[in-house]
Amino acid sequence: MTPLLEARGVMRVLPGPVPVTLVRDIHFSVQPGEFIAITGPSGSGKSSLLYLLGLLDVPTSGSIYLEGRETSKLGRNELAELRLKKLGFVFQFHFLLPEFSVLENVMLPMRKLGARSDSLMRARAAEILDELGLTPEARKTPDQLSGGQRQRVAIARALANDPLIILADEPTGNLDTKNGRIVFDIFKRLAEQNRQTVITVTHDPHLSEHTQRQIHLVDGSIAGTEHPALV
Ligand SMILES: Nc1ncnc2c1ncn2[C@@H]1O[C@H](COP(=O)(O)OP(=O)(O)O)[C@@H](O)[C@H]1O
Ligand SMILES: [Mg+2]
Repeated sequence: MTPLLEARGVMRVLPGPVPVTLVRDIHFSVQPGEFIAITGPSGSGKSSLLYLLGLLDVPTSGSIYLEGRETSKLGRNELAELRLKKLGFVFQFHFLLPEFSVLENVMLPMRKLGARSDSLMRARAAEILDELGLTPEARKTPDQLSGGQRQRVAIARALANDPLIILADEPTGNLDTKNGRIVFDIFKRLAEQNRQTVITVTHDPHLSEHTQRQIHLVDGSIAGTEHPALV
């Protein structure tokens, strides 16, 4: 079966008088519905790898395949469209637009894609918010929410266009233990119930142990893979 997402021999070097190797020798593949953590010490290349997998950056050598399609030759616009349709991103900081309501923030990626009418976008955004327990917050602006609620809205926004893959970079970095667990429980549910793939960077072992697979990075290389949920 063709993997949903695959990295083959991926290396990324920042050019310059002293080139910096961000990641190297990255080989792995991902199937629908997998919940995967990328772990490793600070500076080990976790964010760099996530950006490559999320088609926000392009490998110096090696290839990234999405649904069997090699992505390195795609132009900027094609990559942007692929990201908008197939991928959803969650970062440590929520990046919600402060002047828009929660509902409007969730609708933004749908507006960019332009595939649905205004009433369908509204209905779909309301449905996603409901699934994440955020219906009472729909009309509020981000500054009226708690940190945990804001991060859940950021997840709702990532789900706007029904992505195949959700990529998250330290999504619980600004949350307390309880809200961190809530975020991971949502990811787990998306993987199990919707067969959406979740790839999340985390340095919290209490959270990564709830994933199916941990990819451990050291100095930009995969130093080991664990399958804690299978043990
Ligand atoms: N734009 C950049 N210029 C120079 N070095 C960078 C840049 N981006 C990342 N690095 C370096 O590459 C390494 C990997 O960074 P990163 O992927 O952010 O690691 P992590 O997310 O695991 O903390 C680090 O040593 C970092 O300092
Ligand atoms: Mg990082």
